[in-house]
Amino acid sequence: MTSALFSPIKLADLELSNRIVIAPMCQYSADDGVPSPWHTTHLGMLANSGASLVIVEASGVERVGRITHGCTGIYSDASEDAFRTIIAHCKRIGTARFGIQIGHAGRKASSARPWEGGLGLKPNEDPWPTIGPSAIAPGAAWPAPRAMDEADMTRVRDAFVNAAKRALRAGFEEIELHMAHGYLLHSFVSPISNKRNDAYGGSLEGRMKFPLEVLRAVRAVVPKGFPLGARISATDWMDGGLTGDDSVIWVKAMKAEGLDFVCISSGGVTAEVRTPVAPGYNLPIAEQIKRETGIVTRVVGLIATAKQAEAIVAEGKADQVALARAVLDDPHWGWHAAKELGADVKRPNQYLRAAPKLWPGASYRDNAA
Ligand SMILES: Cc1cc2nc3c(=O)[nH]c(=O)nc-3n(C[C@H](O)[C@H](O)[C@H](O)COP(=O)(O)O)c2cc1C
Repeated sequence: MTSALFSPIKLADLELSNRIVIAPMCQYSADDGVPSPWHTTHLGMLANSGASLVIVEASGVERVGRITHGCTGIYSDASEDAFRTIIAHCKRIGTARFGIQIGHAGRKASSARPWEGGLGLKPNEDPWPTIGPSAIAPGAAWPAPRAMDEADMTRVRDAFVNAAKRALRAGFEEIELHMAHGYLLHSFVSPISNKRNDAYGGSLEGRMKFPLEVLRAVRAVVPKGFPLGARISATDWMDGGLTGDDSVIWVKAMKAEGLDFVCISSGGVTAEVRTPVAPGYNLPIAEQIKRETGIVTRVVGLIATAKQAEAIVAEGKADQVALARAVLDDPHWGWHAAKELGADVKRPNQYLRAAPKLWPGASYRDNAA
């Protein structure tokens, strides 16, 4: 049996050995944006998960663009240096390639870590003022952001460009723009959070204008062939919000600007709306976007079993599957999926004795050193 999940794929010029991607996951363990030994351990673990690509958590392009005080940022030399050291280490010890998600939290910045409540920071928790397309809070527990003026847009666009340059210098091999979950760029595209009357609001075309300017500026400094993609919330799951049809237009516009791939997520524009929790809940929209735009499409959202992931790729519904929580639960998810699907996956030499195919008929005892 040949596994579709374990077949190679090219993302722009980046060759990946299989279709498994580890989705970005905030660890809330950085110090002023600088990743810590926790990240070395966490990312080192994921480097040997069997996934061909690991995406490092949403990293703020400016200090006020972080979600929490513990979020990583990619706006300082200290952070760039720390990422460079960690990524070099992970590539040395592991089998995966590494990308990074760069973003700006916008009106959802200045939040507490999830295990400290996850809501807007209180006056005694060192909050900071937030920005957004319009002065509309993401929920009752956050203050309204300040509506951005053109100077803010120029600063944030330049911050994305600088973050991309830092990511390239730090040794990342893929960059993903965070345009999902109600954070700044998604909040421009969504009619729920963008009520501007100027050229950056109104119709979908107007609402896409600032994110497209960011993409264009970032693409200009990211070499052709280097994979640049975006994670989007393809639906707001709300009446009057973004729909799959809107997202087809949105993705086509980004593809025309040189976007190489898209990762389909959903929801997050307000604190009130809950994203559905059925297995593969983003799959129908991912399938629509892949079919109608022809872009390389990654899907995320309650993909937990090997058979489920295999079927998604084998049936052509998406090109890559991204997993988050399932891999925190089982950091060798890809190894176990390979075993179940009769495929093989690269493991570090130190762990080869646990590979089922290396020692046919061998027992652990036979291989005792
Ligand atoms: C601990 C944790 C941190 C997350 N951080 C991010 C993030 O930095 N960026 C992002 O786009 N999504 C983030 N997510 C969402 C996941 O990437 C993923 O889209 C979501 O968990 C659904 O996938 P799953 O069902 O495989 O967990 C996070 C999820 C978890 C559980």
